[in-house]
Amino acid sequence: MIQIKARIGRSRYNDGVNSVSLAARPPSFLSLVAAGEPFRLLFPLGTLLGLVGVLLWPAWFYGGLEAWPVVPHARIMIQGFLGSFVVGFLGTALPRMLEVPKIGLIVSGTLAAGLLLLSGLHLAGQVIAGDVVFLLLLGGYLGLLAGRFRHRRDTPPPGFVLVALGMACGLAGTLLLILTALPETGLQPAAHTLGRLLLYQGFLLLPIMGIGAFLLPRFFGLPNRHDFPESLRLPPGWLRRAGFAGACGAVVLLSFGFEAAGWFRTGYGLRAAAVLAYFFREVPVHQARFSRGSLAFALRLALFSIPLGYAAMAFAPVWQGALIHIVFVTGFSLLTFTVASRVILGHSGQSELFVRRLVPVLALTVLLTAAMLTRVTADWMPDLRLSHYAYAALAWAAGVVVWAVAILPSVRRPDEA
Ligand code: HEM
Repeated sequence: MIQIKARIGRSRYNDGVNSVSLAARPPSFLSLVAAGEPFRLLFPLGTLLGLVGVLLWPAWFYGGLEAWPVVPHARIMIQGFLGSFVVGFLGTALPRMLEVPKIGLIVSGTLAAGLLLLSGLHLAGQVIAGDVVFLLLLGGYLGLLAGRFRHRRDTPPPGFVLVALGMACGLAGTLLLILTALPETGLQPAAHTLGRLLLYQGFLLLPIMGIGAFLLPRFFGLPNRHDFPESLRLPPGWLRRAGFAGACGAVVLLSFGFEAAGWFRTGYGLRAAAVLAYFFREVPVHQARFSRGSLAFALRLALFSIPLGYAAMAFAPVWQGALIHIVFVTGFSLLTFTVASRVILGHSGQSELFVRRLVPVLALTVLLTAAMLTRVTADWMPDLRLSHYAYAALAWAAGVVVWAVAILPSVRRPDEA
């Protein structure tokens, strides 16, 4: 009976090791979440919300929706889908890194319920209500983490200046979007654009840069310039690296200002330059060998897509709405699933797979690339545009389902390494 239970949820990537004896019962899923690993709950939820947000396009094209779904799509993809991965990742990693009390089951459950609620509100067209829930949820969560930060026994990596800046973008962007939706505030359309940029891009881009500098060299077997010895006092060299991170973050923020003011080329060009400069110096992927498995391959493509998307927007600003999907699809979303794969495999005793060839990760990479190309080129074909949005969304969803079936079941598996 117990062995039958242990089989539930097995994949090719979690076979064998979970053999259960009557003497050693494996911990339950909830006890794993309660042990300070909110990613186990929030990554599957984020995956589900991503599928909902993207499948609005086929639902619209094949006739299931009345209203043009751009706002629910954008909000669910950023606040619901990517938001789940961001809070799940930070809630797992930060307390361990700083050696402070972990995030328990009640906080994880509240986060999951809030993310589900806000996505439901966006789906129902209640944009302001959805935004308010996101604001309260993110604000409350950051307050909780800040409270623990005071009791830290170690200093976070210097790139985390960018994580803090990214969280501030998520809060400020959402607040601006709420205020500009209320006519009585009389705010200019530029404030709405700035709100969109802060939420849709800053909230993800800056943490990706900041966490990336610490995490990504491990994918490529490169020396880690953000790994300092444990210390409460700032270690030598920390301030210099944090200063560079802060300067690149400030340039990204400035680029949002230029774009909101109508200086599109300058805005996109500055953003591409800041991202390239930061990655080139802090995550020198160009120096890495090419033989480090499927995760490193997917990551290389994701890291390349982000500056490529911004550079393409600088060359052809009129196609911004299409070209930004190079950043969203093969940039943010591929990077999110790649980092999530590593977190899940690493926390389930399967770190030997980090450098292997993983067919589901390769399938995800190919299908997301096809989705990106279909989405971007759709806007050049007015007659086929809407059907191509649907095909792009279906390709994205297919890639994500393949990944989810192979990798996600391991969230139920404890780290037995
Ligand atoms: C792969 C299938 C996808 C399709 C067919 C699709 C389609 C679209 C369309 C048609 C728009 C409106 C563009 C405009 O108004 O100019 C849009 C906007 C947006 N999409 Fe997607 N999208 C896809 C994937 C994604 C993904 C994976 C993300 C996030 C990770 C994303 C995030 C957004 C955001 C944030 C906006 C609003 C951009 C803004 O207003 O500045 N999309 N999408």
